[in-house]
Amino acid sequence: MKIIDGKAIAATIRAELKEKIEKLPEKPGLAVVLVGSDPASQIYVRNKIKACAEVGILSYSYELPDSCSQKDLEDLLDELAKAKNIHGILLQLPLPKGFDEEVAMSKIPTEKDVDGFSAENLGKLVLHEEKTVACTPLGVMQIFKREGIELEGKNAVVLGRSNTVGKPMALLLLNANATVSVCHSKTRNLKEICRNADILVSAIGKPKFVKADMVKDGAVVIDVGINRDENGKLCGDIDFENVKEKASYITPVPGGVGPMTIAMLMYNTYVAARKE
Ligand code: GUN
Repeated sequence: MKIIDGKAIAATIRAELKEKIEKLPEKPGLAVVLVGSDPASQIYVRNKIKACAEVGILSYSYELPDSCSQKDLEDLLDELAKAKNIHGILLQLPLPKGFDEEVAMSKIPTEKDVDGFSAENLGKLVLHEEKTVACTPLGVMQIFKREGIELEGKNAVVLGRSNTVGKPMALLLLNANATVSVCHSKTRNLKEICRNADILVSAIGKPKFVKADMVKDGAVVIDVGINRDENGKLCGDIDFENVKEKASYITPVPGGVGPMTIAMLMYNTYVAARKE
């Protein structure tokens, strides 16, 4: 069994990007927009800004209070959409209650959509003509690539069908010729389906939901969850201590997929700046 060191892979990717970014005629610019004061979102945003500095991307941080209006947010996004020095716009999700996420996100032009969440970017993925792909699933694909994990013909099971992780993850696996099942809260026989998975990716946000008896011997187990356990300690969707005995590869939380998401945001921002 190998514990995948996402932190180390992400550091390698950031170092590679730093060299490429140095060769660009102009430094890439990323606007990071945070609405409200959710502590987890604040940490994610801080880590994204830190990564920008490391690879040579100029970050512009915008923090709006919970009390701002939908229009305030949309006005800011309109302004950033026009700004020449901004190549990517990251609107940290989820937005506080009362905001219309879909309308806000539609203000981000597709060429600045470094999250890969726009209808056009998602549509391109469906067509297997990938443009900008969502950072977390893209980071998982990089893990497969850099660990030499073959996908073709494998049974891949994705837990979760969100537009941000589950769906794009399933499409990437399908495009890589895996046989893909997508499971969700209404799925029947979940355990049996999971036990058939050569590749199991969980993105459901339930602490330690995936137990050892749901995992096939030798499976590759990827944990996208970031949760708190009963003692308030950070944990994933996978019951790591028990599942690791059965898996051939497994990602830890923290230090697995999380750092990869940020590395891929840097990559998407670099590509957005290069395309100018
Ligand atoms: N919230 C949690 N993950 C993400 C992400 O990848 N992008 C954005 N914009 N918000 C998030």
